[in-house]
Amino acid sequence: MNQFEEQAEIVRQEQLTPEIFRLTLKAPEIAGSARPGQFVMVRITTCYDPLLRRPLSIHQTIGNEQVQLLYKVVGKGTRLLAAMDPGRQLNLTGPLGRGFDFTDRPAICLVGGGMGIAPLYFLAREILRATKIPKCVVLLGGRTAAELGPLPRDFREIGATQTHIATDDGSLGHQGFVVELLQQHLDPGHPWTVCTCGPHPMMKGVVKECRDQGWECQVSLETMMACGISACLGCAVPRADLSGPYLHVCKDGPVFKAEEVAWL
Ligand SMILES: Cc1cc2nc3c(=O)[nH]c(=O)nc-3n(C[C@H](O)[C@H](O)[C@H](O)COP(=O)(O)OP(=O)(O)OC[C@H]3O[C@@H](n4cnc5c(N)ncnc54)[C@H](O)[C@@H]3O)c2cc1C
Ligand code: FES
Repeated sequence: MNQFEEQAEIVRQEQLTPEIFRLTLKAPEIAGSARPGQFVMVRITTCYDPLLRRPLSIHQTIGNEQVQLLYKVVGKGTRLLAAMDPGRQLNLTGPLGRGFDFTDRPAICLVGGGMGIAPLYFLAREILRATKIPKCVVLLGGRTAAELGPLPRDFREIGATQTHIATDDGSLGHQGFVVELLQQHLDPGHPWTVCTCGPHPMMKGVVKECRDQGWECQVSLETMMACGISACLGCAVPRADLSGPYLHVCKDGPVFKAEEVAWL
């Protein structure tokens, strides 16, 4: 698998909601080989503060030239990133990790919660580009309509017409958890492949529903990451049977078959 370290120029920085930003970077080597579910490690500054690179999923690639990231401002690194203007250079490494396996699946459902929606847009776009497009349902969850911003519309605009929303406060779509939409919108008789990314409790609920229904489930995990290249062991997660060496989210994942990992 090709990996690159690239000086990437910021092409566009868009503020989508008070906390969420979309950053477009010129990074042809990474864009040329990225697959949905993979991520990049971003060096935020050229000095040593913040010292560590930040992991961000690839939201989409544009024309084999550009990489787009969708991120929420949560701390120092993302706050600095949000203040950067077009023309600035950022050092990226990637594409990293193992992405989603979506080939030859007759029916695919994407379930995203919060910033877990970021990698699913790239996945939806690639699924909908296939010559034989599978049945495709997208389920998105957030606290409020305002938090989701333009994301539901973005999915519909690329042809994901079966996009359904759940919000905690009912300000958009179903009031409740996104996992409840699985029962509402997925025909239990179909051999669904469910790809999910989001908060751990949400994914745990999705995994349980898939297990009960006998559906394939792929999960994209998020852990703290210091290196992103399998050197620091900071991203270790236990295997499903709690035996053997730990799995590393940066190298073995971030996307795993649900049955590979322990759901504690
Ligand atoms: C594979 C992967 C993909 C991700 N994709 C996205 C994405 O597409 N969009 C997005 O908004 N966020 C994503 N995250 C989370 C994102 O990496 C953190 O929100 C970000 O690193 C926070 O940095 P900070 O300096 O603003 O926050 P701080 O809290 O100041 O960060 C301090 C340290 O903790 C680490 N850290 C803090 N929160 C997380 C976290 N949730 N996951 C991993 N490391 C963390 C930082 O990398 C840094 O080393 C992803 C995380 C992983 C592991
Ligand atoms: S982040 Fe360092 S080993 Fe995975």
